[in-house]
Amino acid sequence: MKEVKIYSPATIANLVCGFDVLGLCLKEPCDIMHIKLMDEKKVVIHSADGYNLPSDPAQNTAGAPLLEILAETDLQIGFDVTIEKHIKPGSGIGSSAASAAGAVVAANHLLGNIFSKEDMVRFAMFGEKVASGVKHADNIAPCIYGGITLIRSIFPLDIVAIPAPQMLITVVHPQIEVRTSDARQILRKEVLLKDAIKQWGNVAGLVAGFMKNDYELIGRSLEDVIIEPVRSMLIPGFDEVKKRCKEAGALGGGISGSGPSIFMMSKDEATAKKVELIMQDIYNRIGLPHHTYVTTINNEGVRIVNGEK
Ligand code: HSE
Repeated sequence: MKEVKIYSPATIANLVCGFDVLGLCLKEPCDIMHIKLMDEKKVVIHSADGYNLPSDPAQNTAGAPLLEILAETDLQIGFDVTIEKHIKPGSGIGSSAASAAGAVVAANHLLGNIFSKEDMVRFAMFGEKVASGVKHADNIAPCIYGGITLIRSIFPLDIVAIPAPQMLITVVHPQIEVRTSDARQILRKEVLLKDAIKQWGNVAGLVAGFMKNDYELIGRSLEDVIIEPVRSMLIPGFDEVKKRCKEAGALGGGISGSGPSIFMMSKDEATAKKVELIMQDIYNRIGLPHHTYVTTINNEGVRIVNGEK
């Protein structure tokens, strides 16, 4: 029987100023998935964790992309998927994308690599539609490509890999749940021209900073005048985390995806660890349980651990 085990990593969408267009792949944490080919044309989902995610494949973020693959091809096979989640759903670090992208990369491997990376992103976005009601690729694309990706357009798909210098990423996940669909609904539907000008200046500055290895420019560009002022109200301690971490030497950061996780980028490990202590201090004082990670950029994306058995 053909089966594969994969590690599917967490991702940070938006990267502060790049709402829906920029994303970054993290080394840790990762979901573990086992996928087997079946003779029958159907998708079966098993959960090997306590998260109670939907087992109906059409409602599951890993199942929906696989059903789409079966619908679009004349393959007479099916997929049996076991998901062991380590990326908590609703954490803002791409939990739904990890399931969706992981399932598609594993399926592609089992089918003999018949799809391009862009095809895989397109299929995996069906999982995001299940999770948040909208297709967006700023978690899916970095999860599949690795590194930092710019999603210049999703219809049609146009994904650009952005080279970046070594950076440490500190993430704090305060244990409250923010649903992406809710966090999108509260956003204003129109923006002022003066804010748009600042925002696209920052997006261009951030991409240029990554490509030129210019840490100062990266830091100056990590500013969001459109989304963060609205969404940060959902995250206790947000302003203090940002202010104190930057004072401690972080380049900058903000809400990870739609929150509640907050991330900070640092040039070196000592600063990233100092930032972690500050985050822990703030949430201990507020009395909010939390997890922290100090990790780096993952340039590989979804990793295939073993092949055919
Ligand atoms: N770009 C999306 C949003 C990412 O911020 O709504 C959600 O993970």
